[in-house]
Amino acid sequence: MLPVRVIVGGRDLLEAARNIIGRYMPGFRYAETAVVDGWASVAVAIAGEDAVGAEVFYGLSARPYSICVHYYVATVEGWRRRGIASALVAHVEDVCGAQLYLATTRLGNEPAVRLFTSLGYRAVPWDELPRDLADVLLRATCGYDDDVLLAKPSERLEALLGADHAEIARFHMRECYAVWRSMRGSKGHVH
Ligand SMILES: CC(C)(COP(=O)(O)OP(=O)(O)OC[C@H]1O[C@@H](n2cnc3c(N)ncnc32)[C@H](O)[C@@H]1OP(=O)(O)O)[C@@H](O)C(=O)NCCC(=O)NCCS
Repeated sequence: MLPVRVIVGGRDLLEAARNIIGRYMPGFRYAETAVVDGWASVAVAIAGEDAVGAEVFYGLSARPYSICVHYYVATVEGWRRRGIASALVAHVEDVCGAQLYLATTRLGNEPAVRLFTSLGYRAVPWDELPRDLADVLLRATCGYDDDVLLAKPSERLEALLGADHAEIARFHMRECYAVWRSMRGSKGHVH
């Protein structure tokens, strides 16, 4: 594994995150909005002098639980398979200190699924979750474009149904739904 240093910040690291994540992930606008709003943070992996990987993540309170979402993570091509994303995800877990960690991706994104499962996450397709639980988790992760949830520890997922969802609802409204609407350019009423 390559020795990497991980630094964590907010808007100060947005440019570095955009240069890395924005190159590979078209939905970076969501991450950007959440960082600008002060909801999400940025972790950047540095090898020598180079920024070689980045992650955008955020915490959510779902009393009595705390959740940490790995929103977007990417490693610069040419630096992959050297433990960089693993170092980012592990560092973010330390920073968050949450009771439940979540990420979403596409089932076809084997590198992403394997990255997380190699770190103890369980991959659960949305359609295998009870509908009401999937709804809460979709709101918490804004994972509508993805088809699989990655959760650690997955045994804690069910307990979320009885938790306080107020902050999840706020996150969803401001950072997910509002961004989606602005990208659609829709100003009409929602039915
Ligand atoms: C997914 C991604 C972040 C992984 O970054 P990385 O720095 O190469 O990951 P790591 O080196 O830490 O890999 C950790 C483990 O994940 C798995 N993995 C990573 N890339 C893989 C690949 N291409 N094929 C199969 N398994 C892979 C392996 O188990 C690997 O451990 P190993 O190399 O010891 O076998 C990178 O491929 C990427 O930037 N993809 C484009 C953006 C993206 O899809 N992000 C994920 C969205 S959730």
